[in-house]
Amino acid sequence: VTPEAALVDSLIASIPDFPEHGVTFRDLTPVFADGAALKALSTALTAPFEGRFEYLGGLEARGFLIAGAASIVTGAGVLSVRKAGKLPRAVLSQEYSLEYGVAALEVHVDQLPVGSRVLIVDDVLATGGTALAAANLMERAGWHVTGFAVALELDGLGGRAKLEDRGIETFSLLQY
Ligand code: PRP
Ligand code: HPA
Repeated sequence: VTPEAALVDSLIASIPDFPEHGVTFRDLTPVFADGAALKALSTALTAPFEGRFEYLGGLEARGFLIAGAASIVTGAGVLSVRKAGKLPRAVLSQEYSLEYGVAALEVHVDQLPVGSRVLIVDDVLATGGTALAAANLMERAGWHVTGFAVALELDGLGGRAKLEDRGIETFSLLQY
């Protein structure tokens, strides 16, 4: 375990029975609230992909926090990958499944030059539906997905397999 991983790990809060009975929710807000930890997380998530991306794709909402911090660490710009209905110009929209029903992520269709290399970042990988939808958007827009970097991977929910089946290099700092 690296010092960065140990620091982030020490700050993740585990909340039983949230948002529903039987689920243990992993809360990274204490990581975001600690400047040294947020910087360490940003460095650790981007280092494996160094020199291979010009943009960080931040997934609303918690991925935005990591993308913004990682932007300052790496110099890469932030691509806003937003929930449906928030972006004001022409969008591409990608639906994905939630436990109940569907949601959608969107990007401005012309936000980046064709061929731009994007590292997608987020706080938690669970089923992988969110990350896969984001990757689909990148490909439809003509941007290259360098990979997916996430602070915490929840084992046993199939997220990593879903991404790797699609050839998306996936890095997680921690696995629970
Ligand atoms: C959470 C989390 C990931 C996603 C992971 O976001 O931040 O983006 O769920 O789940 P998955 O791998 O099963 O798709 P949420 O949709 O709760 O949105 P929020 O960041 O706006 O709270
Ligand atoms: N924490 C944060 N986000 C999540 C979780 C969790 O435990 N499960 C699915 N998305």
